Amino acid sequence: MLLDIVSVFPDYFSILNLSLLGKAQADGLVEVCAHNLRDWTHDVHHSVDDTPVGGGAGMVMKPEIWASCLDELLGMPALTVDASAQAMENATADLASSFSSGYAPDYQPSSSSADDEKPVLIFPDPSAPLFTQAAAEELSRHHHLVFGCGRYEGIDARVGQYYAAQGVDVREYSLGDYVLNGGEVAVCVMIEAITRLIPGFMGNPDSIVDESYTGEPLLEHRQFTRPTTWRCLSVPPVLTSGDHAKVDRFRRDEKLVRTNAVRPDLIEKLDTHSLDKADRKLLMSLGWDVSGDHPRRARK
Ligand code: 6GU
Repeated sequence: MLLDIVSVFPDYFSILNLSLLGKAQADGLVEVCAHNLRDWTHDVHHSVDDTPVGGGAGMVMKPEIWASCLDELLGMPALTVDASAQAMENATADLASSFSSGYAPDYQPSSSSADDEKPVLIFPDPSAPLFTQAAAEELSRHHHLVFGCGRYEGIDARVGQYYAAQGVDVREYSLGDYVLNGGEVAVCVMIEAITRLIPGFMGNPDSIVDESYTGEPLLEHRQFTRPTTWRCLSVPPVLTSGDHAKVDRFRRDEKLVRTNAVRPDLIEKLDTHSLDKADRKLLMSLGWDVSGDHPRRARK
């Protein structure tokens, strides 16, 4: 997988050379190229931003510099004004559809291998749909991802619109409901979540199967290691019992109890048909009605 990242602070991405991602790069499984947007400027000040049209605070990143850079990374010809205007006209002008995670009007995450060869252009943006494990899984199947990190008040909105109109798979994602100074840290997070799902990346792929957010939306159970008693605190005795069925049940109960306490919104997403008798009994004792397709708060 080739990961091109564009930023005015490419040094942020040196952390991607550490740990498992560093090893994956050394092994040739992934290649990370962090580019400095200012390399595509032509003026003496290497300026990348300008004041917002319509007024307001802050600065907006200039479209023509982003386009020079992205044309090159995406291997696209720089279109003449007429040709690009035509392409924009052919594309959807439907605003609502451009406010989903993809720009294409009937955007569906692709699963066909032909599409996986096409680059995906990703813009981190606090005003975008949430980046989820499902998005990470889907993106891990592509071979070329290009990330564009905005700073200041963001990138001129026509940049994403233009590449979508050219047939590029353009996405925008937010990490959560808080604001960062720029997209750099968000892109590091996305890249870590995506690349660890590439086959062969993890030493032990089993550790992916059992973790939170893959498959069933349940949080992980607690983990303990030796010594079994430490500073007067003992691990739950069932874990040292050697009874695997009991250990499995104990961990399953922990996941349900913890998810109920910390993220009840995830309990509502459970498929009740995948729950066993003990799961249902536990959820009912926690105040859930499990008679439908998904748990609902039982009425008192
Ligand atoms: Cl993707 N970008 C920025 N600047 N702030 C964020 C974010 C992204 N996600 C959450 N906050």
